[in-house]
Formats: sequence, C-alpha cells, structure tokens
Amino acid sequence: MHFLSKFLVVVLSLYLVSCDTIPKAPATKTEQLADSSYDDHSYSNLKEIKTTNLDLELEVNFNNKTIYGVARHTMKNFGSDTAIFDIKGLQIQKITTGKINQEREADFVIGNMDKDSILGQPLLVSVSPKTTQINIYYQTTKQSEALDWLDSNLTSSKKYPFLYTQGQAILTRTWIPIQDSPSNRITYSAKVKVPNELMAVMSAKNQKKKNNEGIYQFEMSKAIPSYLIALAVGDLKYHAFSKNTGVYCEPELMNASKNEFVDLPKMFNAAEQLYGKYQWDQYDLLVLPYSFPFGGMENPMLTFVNPTVITGDRSMVSVIAHELAHSWSGNLVTNNTWNDFWLNEGFTVYFENRIMEKLYGKEIADILAIIEFQELEDEIDQIRNSEHPNDSKLFLDLKNRNPDDGMTDIAYVKGAFFLKTLEEKVGRKQMDSFLKKYFQQFAFRTINSKTFINYLNEQLLSKNNIQFNTEEWIYKKGLPKNCLQLSSSSLEKMTEMAEKTNAGEVLFAPKITYKYYKKKGKRLRRMIVTKIERKDYIVQEWQTFIRALNPTIGKRKMKELDQFLGFSTCGNSEIMNEWFVLAIKNDYTEIQPEMEAFLSRIGRRKYLVPIYKALTEKPENLAWAKELFKKVSPNYHSVSRNTIEKILFLN
Ligand code: BES
Ligand code: ZN
Repeated sequence: MHFLSKFLVVVLSLYLVSCDTIPKAPATKTEQLADSSYDDHSYSNLKEIKTTNLDLELEVNFNNKTIYGVARHTMKNFGSDTAIFDIKGLQIQKITTGKINQEREADFVIGNMDKDSILGQPLLVSVSPKTTQINIYYQTTKQSEALDWLDSNLTSSKKYPFLYTQGQAILTRTWIPIQDSPSNRITYSAKVKVPNELMAVMSAKNQKKKNNEGIYQFEMSKAIPSYLIALAVGDLKYHAFSKNTGVYCEPELMNASKNEFVDLPKMFNAAEQLYGKYQWDQYDLLVLPYSFPFGGMENPMLTFVNPTVITGDRSMVSVIAHELAHSWSGNLVTNNTWNDFWLNEGFTVYFENRIMEKLYGKEIADILAIIEFQELEDEIDQIRNSEHPNDSKLFLDLKNRNPDDGMTDIAYVKGAFFLKTLEEKVGRKQMDSFLKKYFQQFAFRTINSKTFINYLNEQLLSKNNIQFNTEEWIYKKGLPKNCLQLSSSSLEKMTEMAEKTNAGEVLFAPKITYKYYKKKGKRLRRMIVTKIERKDYIVQEWQTFIRALNPTIGKRKMKELDQFLGFSTCGNSEIMNEWFVLAIKNDYTEIQPEMEAFLSRIGRRKYLVPIYKALTEKPENLAWAKELFKKVSPNYHSVSRNTIEKILFLN
C-alpha cells in the first residue's frame, strides 16, 4: 500500500511541523494500524522495514528539561515505501533519508493517539523501497514519560541535578522515536552532550570518568531490544570491584555502595558457573536517586539500582543477583512480546535464587523464595476477584492494555516456581544442563512461550521420557497442584512468635534473670538482662513476623512493638513498608510523620502501592493521602505517579 493512501483523510501539512497539542487522525485508521502490526504494543512495520542500528546525537538541557536529539536509523528494508516508528510525547522537527551530508528531507505523517493513550502515536515516514537510512530530528517534551528530571534538592549531593530514563516496557518511544517492540534487536551508539559539571552514562560501553567538555560517546555493539536503551546524567563517580565489575554513584553514596555491593564479583562468578559465560564484557551498577520506580532495572552493562537497596547490612542484595541474572534471561534471551514477560522475569527469579543459594546457602535461598511465595498467594487471590481473572496465567493477553499490567507476581514468582517444580521433577543436573543449552541456543534472539515449550519438550522431557504439566502451568489460571512446597524452620519460629504476640504475650521486653553463685562462702547473685533485638533476625524473618500478626492487632500493641523493635524508624524499606500498611489498618496515627517522610522520599512503586491502597480504605485517610500525594508526587517518576493516581482518584 502506498504511504499516502493509508492516510488519505489526513491533511499532511498539519503534521509536518509537530506541536504540543497532539494532532488527531481518524480513529479507524489508527486502529487498522494497530491491528496490522506485529506486536500488540507497537505500531512499527518490522516485517517490511526494521532498524538494525541506531545512532543517537543527544543534547541534554537541564534548564528547560529537554533532550534535543537526532535518531539516525540504519534500516533493513524489505522493499517498503513506508517506515513506521513509535512515538509518544515527542516533537518531531524534521525527517531526512540518506547518510550525513547527503540527507534529503522526507514526508511524514503522525497518526493519532490510541484511545487510552497507552501506545502513543505511529510516525509514518515516506521512503523509497531502497531507503536504508532514516534520520529523525526531534525533541522531548513534558509528556516524555521515560524521563525523570530531578532538581538538585532531590539528589544526594543537593548540589547537582540528575536525569535518568526508564524504557521498559514501552517508554523508550517517549524519549527516542523508535520501533519500540522487544521482538526487534538493534545495536546502538550515542554521542551525548551534557553540562560540563555532570557525567553521562548509558547501557553501553562507558568511559568511567568525567571529562571537561561534557561530551560522552557510547557504543553498544551487541544487538538489544529497544526497552534496554538507557541514559543517566548526574554527578557520578566510579569504583571498580574487579576488572569487569563496578559501581557508579553520587560521591556521597560511594562508601555505602562499596560496602553494600562488595560481593558483586562473587555473584558474577556464580552466575557464569551456572549458565555460561557472561556475554556483555562489563557489568556495572548505577545507584540512582530515591525516586527510581523499581528496585532495579537490568539495562545491559549498567544495571540501574534503587538506593533503598543500600541497607548497610546487605540484606537486599538479592535485587542485584536478580538484575545480574537478566544478563542471561531477558537481555540475551528476550521475551518476544509483553505477553511472554514471564520468560524474562520467571527465569530471572529462578536464576536469582540459584545465585543466592551459591553465595549464601540453601537456607537463605529458601527463605527468600518463601517470602515471595507468600506474596504470590495474595496476588492470585486478588487476581481471582479482579476484572482480569485471566492474569494469573503465565502467558498473558495484554492487547489493548498497558503491558505494565503484566508486572505481577505471576510472571515473577509463579514463573520461578514453575521452573523450581520442573527442577524437582527432572533433577538439578539435567535442569542446569538444559538451561545452559537454552541460553546458548536462543542467545541474542527473542522467544515466545510456544518456542520455549517446544524446546523444553524436545531437549528435556521427551528425550528422557518425562511427563510434566507444562501447558497447565503456562496456559491455565492459578497454581497447579504439583507446585513445589518449601518450608523454613526459622520462618516458622517467626510465625510462632507472631502468634504468641497476637495472643497477648510480651516477647520483646527486656527480661531480667538472676544468676546465683558463691564467693568466699557467701551466696551472691548477678542480674542478667536479655532482650530480643531487631538485629537478632534478618529482614525476611521480620517480614514473616509482621505478616503473621493479627491484621487487627490494635494500636496499643503496635506501639509496644515499636518501642522494643523500632520498626517505624528502622530505615529498612521492606520492613517499614509492611509495618506502615499494618499501622494504617490499626489507626496507629502516631507514626504519620515517619510515613510521610517515607512517601516523600521514596519512589519505588512496590512500596508506594500497598501504602496508598491501604490509605484509600477510610475517607479521612484518603483525604490525607490525596493531600500528601499532591505535595510529593512531583518527586516520583511518571511510572509510580500514574499508578498512584489511579489508586487514589478512583475512590
Ligand atoms: N525488569 C524489571 C523491572 C521492570 C519490569 C520495569 C517491567 C518495567 C516493566 C526488573 O528486573 C525487576 O524485576 N525489578 C524488580 C526487582 C526484584 C524482583 C528483585 C523490582 O523492581 O521490584
Ligand atoms: Zn526483573
């Protein structure tokens, strides 16, 4: 079909210069486009023409919070006269075809936004069937949701501003005009200009040092899906843990980061031992500001990490094991569409747990898995009663929905327990050699659930005459009966302590006992004070304790526990998060200042959601939450802000 015939009704000139208001094309046309595309969440026509390499020229302007860019796409053209890209919240200035210095301006049309503003807009560029180079001149806007621009007061330095991007799932199109589907892999390079006093880093080969010109060059020579392109700009320093692992962070966080992540080289070795050689040369961490909406994000060569992972006691390093594991599951073998998201996350949670077991032993690994399993059970209950009861299947149907909806414990924990159950059935040795082969076989490719099932049957099950209910696990709701069951005596002990507490016992007050002894014929006694302290148990044990407390335990008891154990002020965000939810349910309002400080500072969505949800249950709390949200939501990334907005303003 000729380019213009798709958009006959559209007045071309309207779109040649884009503006802040989003132009509307007839709805039916956009729907047709969506239907004919390869992936439910991208308009791109990858089967006709697709990017193979992207060369970015970016200028980052903190004064007006805008990135000015040129995206030079090298394309493989199968003979198409139209190239379709995804854009959302971008202003397109001009588009050319051809190499630098031989560029010719091309016509383009911007389609209208989908009705729920999830996908954004298709950008159609008129090309010749021989065109292989398309250059898009553009700038970002306030609607560029991937971008989080932080004023200096929200950084650790309080002196310099910060910018970072979050691409997954479909936000790369809000800062780069791109064919934004995980089914296509591209290489990229970039030249980025930033203010002189700041440093830029990307999910690519980095220079590690600040320079005086403020110009940074990047190269990602392995093909990656578009959601893994990432950029951060701030006052950064680098510390190497080994020849190919290290951490970037603001100087103020350096000592704490060095201490927290010291096991990184060990994790790296453990991962390689399990599933084969690391394919990305370098593995570094970047500690972000507190607004970062996730615990971690597996941007290749440079995992982005939430600073709440720095707890001082290394109790949350499993997040690092998780992101490192993505270097195999996700980044090397990538989900083909967002319906196959469990192939990224389920494998990664399984792999993460294996790394944790190698470093810290089976007892710790099981504790971590049980904590997650408790969350999975809650999630399954919630999904059963929700408007999308099919969301408890591993293979999802997210058409016409935000792929973000797939980010539940189903993909993560049901996915991982599927693999754990399979491991139990086939034995660890067979499982590991299968997984190692799987990562080799599909390296630098994308894969869907069907392809996985075929490979599993062929390489593991049929070969060894093993029966397994794979299809039930992947295509049916809920948890199959054969799901592996784990138990941990130390967690059971915590549950018992919670039950005693529920029954009114006071377990944590200092206990005074006397030791009697004789000296020079006299009977004497020595007083001994014993007290259970928070540090006597690990974070996951306390989580189990809090979860097993009576949901209506009452404010008096909570206050007493706080007095002895100091949950409200402990600084560990996993504990504080669960404690605050219980506090809300029990009208324990004395800790509102701590809760307010937590909600003002931390932007990780996993922590915000349960607290804000609990606050919607009573009108007076809801009013307070709305007021607070108005004040602090500019501190959140759009990913968290949009989710919380839905929670609060639905009520
Ligand atoms: N890739 C995810 C984060 C993500 C998923 C962002 C989907 C956007 C859309 C990352 O690897 C992740 O799973 N993070 C977890 C870490 C946890 C499971 C250890 C998180 O942030 O909670
Ligand atoms: Zn993950």
